[in-house]
Amino acid sequence: MKFISVVGARPNFMKIAPFVKAVFSHNIHSKNKINHLLVHTGQHYDDRMSGTFFEQLEIPEADINLGVGSGSHSEQVGKTMIEFEKVLKTEKPDWVIVVGDVNATLACSVTAKKENIKCCHIEAGLRSGDISMAEEINRLVTDRISDLLLTPDIIASQNLRQEGIPDYRIQFVGNIMIDTLETNRTKAGKLNVSDILKKNMINNSLLFPKNKLFNDFVVLTLHRPSNVDKKEVLEPIVNFVINEVCKERLLFWTLHPRTRKMLEAFNLFNKILYNDNLILLEPLSYLEMLKINMEARIILTDSGGLQEECNVLGTPCITLRPNTERPVTLKEHGGVSVLAGNNIENIKKEFYSSLKEKRLPRHIDLWDGHTAERCLKAILDFKS
Ligand code: UD1
Repeated sequence: MKFISVVGARPNFMKIAPFVKAVFSHNIHSKNKINHLLVHTGQHYDDRMSGTFFEQLEIPEADINLGVGSGSHSEQVGKTMIEFEKVLKTEKPDWVIVVGDVNATLACSVTAKKENIKCCHIEAGLRSGDISMAEEINRLVTDRISDLLLTPDIIASQNLRQEGIPDYRIQFVGNIMIDTLETNRTKAGKLNVSDILKKNMINNSLLFPKNKLFNDFVVLTLHRPSNVDKKEVLEPIVNFVINEVCKERLLFWTLHPRTRKMLEAFNLFNKILYNDNLILLEPLSYLEMLKINMEARIILTDSGGLQEECNVLGTPCITLRPNTERPVTLKEHGGVSVLAGNNIENIKKEFYSSLKEKRLPRHIDLWDGHTAERCLKAILDFKS
C-alpha cells in the first residue's frame, strides 16, 4: 500500500505530524507496510512559516517539494496541480491524504481524483457558510470529491450528511491538531515567556520591559485578508489595540507576513512600533506559540486553529471574524470562543468582558490526542 500525504502551509504541519508518526508506528508493528511519501507544495517556505515546524514537530523532511511559493490563489492552485500530477503519474499511490483547508488541500485532492486515486480528507466537514473565504471554497470542493471524510466533531459530520454524502464516506475521528498539542504540552510548558520575547521581538528599539511580570498579557494574531487587506478595516483595529488593549494590559502581537506587509503599505506600521505596552513579534514557532497561549489572559485572533487550541487550554478567545467553521469552540456550544467580527464596538465589549473571565479548559469529544491512529485505521479499513 502506498500513501502520499500533502502539506503546503503553516496550519497543515501540526495536522500531518501525528499522522506521519502513526504511519511509522504501524510500519514497526505490522507486516503490511505502508510506503509513505510526504509532499510539500512549498506555499509556505520561510523558516518561520515552515522549517521550524518540521524541526520541532519532528516531521521528516518532505520527500518531494513542489516549490510553488507565493502568488495569487489561482497561481498557487494551478502550479500545485501541474507539479502534483507529475508526482502522481510517477509514484502511483493508492491514497492521497490531504489535511485542513489551504490551497494545497484543494489542488491535491482535485489532482488525485482526476488521476483516479483515492483521496482522504482529514478535518473534513467544517463549514463557515462564507463562500467569500478561500478556505470555504477549498473545504467544499475537497469534501465533495474525496472518498473518505474524517471529521473533527459531530457538527462537521452532520454538515456532510446534510450535503448528501453517504455515511460510509464519513467518519468522526476527533481533532488531529490536538494530538500535536498533547504531545508537545510538557515541552512547551518548560519554555520561558521572557526568552520567547527576547528571541522574537521586532520592535527591539524599545527597552526590553524587564520590570514587567509576564503573567497577565493579551495576545493578538491577525492574517485573514478580510481583516488585513483593507485600510478601512485594519486601521480601526490598530487604533483599538493602541487606545484600549495597550492601556489595560501588555499586548503581544505576532505578525504574519501578510499583516506586516499591509501595515507597512498603509503607513500603520510606525504607529504600533513605539508603544511601551505593545511587543511586536515575528511569527512564533509551534512550541513558543503554545507556551504563550498557556499563559495568556485573552487571545484575540482570526485563526481557526488557535480558536481550537484555546478551548483545550481554556484561554478566553475573541475571534475577530463574523462566522466560524468551528462552532464547537463557541461559548454557545460550551467552548471558550466568542465571535466579534471586525466591528470595534463588539470587539471592545467582548474584550472587557473577557478580561474578567478565568481560564477554564474545555473537553470536546475525541479531542483526546489519539485522532491520528483513528485516521489511519479508517483509511486501512475503508471499503468503497
Ligand atoms: C494561508 C492559508 C490560510 C492559513 C494561512 C496560515 C490558503 C488559501 N490560505 O494563508 O488558510 O490560515 O496560510 O498562515 O491556503 N509569505 C511569506 N513567507 C512564507 C509564505 C508566505 O512571507 O513562507 C507571504 C507571501 O508572500 C504572501 C503572504 O505571506 O504575501 C501570504 O501567504 P499566502 O501563502 O498567500 O497565504 P496566507 O495568508 O499565509
